[in-house]
Amino acid sequence: MRNAIVLAAGKGTRMKSSLSKVMHPVLSKPMIGHVVTNLKKIDVEDIVVVVGHQADQVQAYLKDSVQYATQMPQLGTGHAVMQVQSLRGKEGETLILYGDCPCISEQTMEKIFIHNSDCAMTVLTAELDDPQKYGRVVRDENGNIEKIVEFKDCTPRQLAIKEINTGIYCVKTDLLFKHLDEITNENAQNEYYLTDLIEIFNSHGLSVQALPVQDVDEVAGVNDRIDLLAAQRWMQKRINRYWLTNGVTFIDPDLTFISADSEIGEDTILYPNVYLEGKTTIGTGCTILPQTFLVNATIGNNTKIDACRITDSIVKDNVNLGPFAHLRMNCVVEDNNRIGNFVEMKNATIGFDSRCAHLTYVGDAEVGAKVNFGCGVVTVNYDGKNKHKTIIKDGAFIGSNVNLIAPITVGENAVVAAGTTANKDVGDGEMAIARTRQENKPGYGLKYKNKKKEGEHHG
Ligand code: UD1
Ligand code: CA
Repeated sequence: MRNAIVLAAGKGTRMKSSLSKVMHPVLSKPMIGHVVTNLKKIDVEDIVVVVGHQADQVQAYLKDSVQYATQMPQLGTGHAVMQVQSLRGKEGETLILYGDCPCISEQTMEKIFIHNSDCAMTVLTAELDDPQKYGRVVRDENGNIEKIVEFKDCTPRQLAIKEINTGIYCVKTDLLFKHLDEITNENAQNEYYLTDLIEIFNSHGLSVQALPVQDVDEVAGVNDRIDLLAAQRWMQKRINRYWLTNGVTFIDPDLTFISADSEIGEDTILYPNVYLEGKTTIGTGCTILPQTFLVNATIGNNTKIDACRITDSIVKDNVNLGPFAHLRMNCVVEDNNRIGNFVEMKNATIGFDSRCAHLTYVGDAEVGAKVNFGCGVVTVNYDGKNKHKTIIKDGAFIGSNVNLIAPITVGENAVVAAGTTANKDVGDGEMAIARTRQENKPGYGLKYKNKKKEGEHHG
């Protein structure tokens, strides 16, 4: 049985932020979210997140997708693990990692689990040219890992060691909780160091092994915003390279930001300044032009999107969107639609092969197939208190500058004449026209113009 403990109780002072450190986003997703999602991908049964500082923020985000243990006050990484009660008495392996180490992949997690089947404890280590403040890995003459010495407790000789502790471990669950309480706080920082477990295991004759990681950046922790940026750049490279090798064209991958949970089909082209956030899916053969921002959007195949913002909405196949359209709150746009410049749609469904090309607001609406909107149509959905629904049936033609005061239904193949403010239903095949009749006054135009000229001379 696989379990995991994610440490996330520390303060993160160097972020200089009112936001909990582990809640800072990397490619639009909080760091701790990356860790938890990847753990779930490799069938980890119980995930216990140790919270302390700003626990409320972490719990509000992860909700009941994980279990929690509270560490208050924070007396070190060993003390953090001591707070976990729910895994005591369980079998199998426990992976211990940090909420502020967002780049670790599910493949690496899997590797440590597998590695630990032959030993009591596995420590993920890395070789660094500049080992900075990391804990140093001390090996004996046979190359076995003897102990980890924290930076502040190192002798000058130990400081020269380049192999460091990433802080990621896998331990046999029963042995972890059997020996955890042997950790004391007799060290430079008066903290309970989880790293002491290595010496303790060795003293009981339990085998501890080091597993060196290939890419050091994958396991880099985030302590400040410079680290946060580095983590984001690294993850962006990894994600974009993945899509590059899976049939997606990028004009400039350094300027394209794709969340870890997004998916893109073959032969789709992404221009710079495109952001895919949350769980966004794009089909095959799409072209996504610059300044497009998609959040939890589902896009079909062969759709073109030019400088649009789409949130929590679905756009199907062969749709031509933008430039500058805004779709939000559960819109569904069926195949072959054209939605153009400065169109806003909110909570609206648009049937097959309709046109809505210019300067239009469609909110709380159910629109059928082959409907044409002129320029400047407004569904007047809000009366100051409540929102009301507009229904437009197949084949209807809505002229330019029309207001449809909801609740209202425009029937099949009905026509609403330009400039109409409609507040009554329009039946199938009917034409609605509601505007004052035009009157033309001969000569008045010229007279008006001449008067204006006079005014200019004397004024
Ligand atoms: C720790 C390791 C060090 C390793 C480094 C890798 C120990 C004693 N040292 O040092 O060997 O090289 O990580 O990054 O383990 N946390 C708690 N409660 C606490 C203290 C920390 O939840 O009481 C959490 C923090 O929120 C953080 C993580 O544990 O996510 C690491 O804590 P941090 O203080 O950054 O450890 P380091 O000093 O970096
Ligand atoms: Ca750290």
